[in-house]
Amino acid sequence: MRRTKLNSIMYTPKLELIIADITTLDADAIVNAANSSLLGGGGVDGAIHRASGPELLEACREIGSCPTGEARITPGFKLLARYVIHTVGPIWHGGNNNEEHLLKSCYINSLQLAVDSNCRSVAFPNISTGVYGFPKDRAASIAVTSVVEFLKTPSSIEKVIFCCFGNENYDLYKDLLNEK
Ligand code: AR6
Repeated sequence: MRRTKLNSIMYTPKLELIIADITTLDADAIVNAANSSLLGGGGVDGAIHRASGPELLEACREIGSCPTGEARITPGFKLLARYVIHTVGPIWHGGNNNEEHLLKSCYINSLQLAVDSNCRSVAFPNISTGVYGFPKDRAASIAVTSVVEFLKTPSSIEKVIFCCFGNENYDLYKDLLNEK
């Protein structure tokens, strides 16, 4: 298995926290922090497109654009993941522009698409906390709260993986999940 797992903690049977490159995970779906063009970019978006191959860009082109807070699904192509769920996080403009609600929508809409495709495991990066500048502590809190709330309703989802790319986010999630 090509999975790079530097650090991993299981919480409830349904929640896992890891530090990893999300492109290496063998979850049914991995979530991409995309921009509304869906045509790729830097950060996790660039990494996913590189690892999935040019067919991913072609599939995204066919979909067209995606508004902030919404999500779209494509195959994973060369990835271990069967699907990539592309969601567009909000750009942080100070917090009075509906950013928190839009970030929550990213998590809920992505999970709903995963359920619609009968996924059992879904991995999320820390949406909007890179170039989109969302404060990491608030973003982590919204991510955990949204996922926990969604999982209260029975569905195909057996595991949600919070995939961090550095210690700062990992430690924030660890504290939040320890409180659950
Ligand atoms: N695996 C897991 N997490 C990663 C990886 C990876 N391979 N690479 C980066 N991260 P960002 P955003 C983390 O900037 O803030 C793109 O250009 C990273 O450390 O990728 O939502 C899009 O096209 C950070 O914690 O996404 C958009 O234009 C998190 O992923 C824009 O950036 C998100 O950082 C979206 O900005």
